[in-house]
Amino acid sequence: MIYSSKAQVVASLFLVTMATADMLTPTYQWTDEMGKTIMCQKCPPGTYMAKHCSSKSDTVCLACPEEHYTQYWNYLDKCRFCNVLCQEGEQVKHECNSTHNRVCECQLGYHHNGYYCVKDLHCNFQDDTMEEDDEECDNLVIDYLVNLNISAHTFRRLELAIFKHKGRKPISQKRIRNLLKAFKNIDPEHPLLPRLLKSLQEANIHSLERKLRKRFLEQED
Ligand SMILES: *[C@@H]1O[C@H](CO)[C@@H](O)[C@H](O)[C@H]1NC(C)=O
Ligand SMILES: *[C@@H]1O[C@H](CO)[C@@H](O)[C@H](O)[C@H]1NC(C)=O
Repeated sequence: MIYSSKAQVVASLFLVTMATADMLTPTYQWTDEMGKTIMCQKCPPGTYMAKHCSSKSDTVCLACPEEHYTQYWNYLDKCRFCNVLCQEGEQVKHECNSTHNRVCECQLGYHHNGYYCVKDLHCNFQDDTMEEDDEECDNLVIDYLVNLNISAHTFRRLELAIFKHKGRKPISQKRIRNLLKAFKNIDPEHPLLPRLLKSLQEANIHSLERKLRKRFLEQED
């Protein structure tokens, strides 16, 4: 087997010969047209394998086209598409280049919640007038109460306090959410928390009232 130790990298119009570090160039096994197993040199990051090596010629590597990349030494028959697109609330941190996919980050005023970038909320829970973020701030209050897993007893008292009648259906997180949403919708012009605290106070449901005050009023959010 004639095997040149040089890998040739053909960029769009010119040939680059890699004469150095040949010992370190990764290789892969390939069976040539004669049925012989030979070792071909892999293509460096930023290129793909356009033609396998043969007993007479080196692997032909071509530069990745626009919007495509290869991050590692490879023998892929085409480069990977830069498939990361920045979503709402995101901006480009590193643009896609021949060796890396695009990398996004949250825009100013957004933060990552583990899944995507969400708007930073500015909640003023003391305030009694609706402001820009209050819709989302109300939802924080609802989510908090739903996840508290209040007892069935407390839930019935809450129903009574809010709607002046007790339901009979079994308690569930969904029912708690629906109850609170219904309460929120009774008076959409005002934030939920002050109204809720007032109802809880009037109905002597002090444990919940205390938890809500502690969570939303006694510490900066
Ligand atoms: C490609 O982008 C990465 C960051 O995503 C960077 O580290 C690397 O230096 C860039 N390469 C070139 C050739 O610009
Ligand atoms: C409430 O219940 C859910 C599911 O039943 C559970 O995942 C969650 O940890 C509970 N929350 C609290 C504060 O106990």
